[in-house]
Amino acid sequence: MTAPTPADPDRQRQRQIEDELLRTVLASFENTPDARLREVMQGLVGHLHAFIREVRLTEAEWQQAIDFLTATGHRTTDRRQEFVLLSDVLGASTQTINVNHEATAGATEATVVGPFFVEGSPEIALGGDMAAGAPGEPCWVEGTVTDTEGNPVSGARLDVWEADEDGLYDVQRDGDQLAGRAHLHTDDQGGYAFWGLTPTPYPIPHDGPVGELLDKTARSPLRASHLHFKATAPGLRTLVTHIFVEGDDLLGSDAVFGVKESLIKRFERQPVGTPTPDGRDLSGRSWSRVRFDIRLAPQRA
Ligand code: BEZ
Ligand code: FE
Repeated sequence: MTAPTPADPDRQRQRQIEDELLRTVLASFENTPDARLREVMQGLVGHLHAFIREVRLTEAEWQQAIDFLTATGHRTTDRRQEFVLLSDVLGASTQTINVNHEATAGATEATVVGPFFVEGSPEIALGGDMAAGAPGEPCWVEGTVTDTEGNPVSGARLDVWEADEDGLYDVQRDGDQLAGRAHLHTDDQGGYAFWGLTPTPYPIPHDGPVGELLDKTARSPLRASHLHFKATAPGLRTLVTHIFVEGDDLLGSDAVFGVKESLIKRFERQPVGTPTPDGRDLSGRSWSRVRFDIRLAPQRA
């Protein structure tokens, strides 16, 4: 055991001061009428104080944090949500999903929604083309939607969206043209199929404060190649997820920690001239195909 040093009484006093402040702040929330709000606020304060004390945060660093959050707010518009991006790169979005979708035996895993989902996408028929002219290699996507017992879910709504081969979503381009997004409904056997694009990697928006943070921490803004899905059906839990491309180099370093092993799928490359499942004429282009069977968890009681 190390001998006490002359500084120990000072350290003890310092610790008392810090403990006492924490107790006072926690007590200030004690009369919160909403018990859940009280629990959340006291938890937040407890962890925030622990963090400040653990890293011995300097006043300059705290000011830097405030400036960073201010810049994050200024960068946020109705077309760009820099706070969601911040939550994503800190793994907070994925952790919140993990906490709220505790492993349900047999259900497809959820992952981040991202900032590019748009309500009111065009409806396509089964076998339709959601790319709608967006550039990229065509990809035939097919599968079924079932519940966790394997019963087919007919009439389930699938919203699908993805970036094009330039790494851009339609909403990142000038104009109002919707492309690379659509919704469709499963058939009587729970089956679905559509044409999309073979996913390619792209960077999350990194020309703002979050990009600067990634830069300063030597992190890449690149997301692993993926295709987004949102599956909705009455009586079943809504699922927001993506599928990822087996063999993609970025699977281990996705900027927003969205990759889950079970969501990595084999996209089978089809050489030029391979007949397509629906007879579509691809005029000498290569294409790919992938299968994604979706199992929806029961709705929470
Ligand atoms: C996306 O996949 O679209 C995305 C997700 C999180 C942050 C940025 C983009
Ligand atoms: Fe995406």
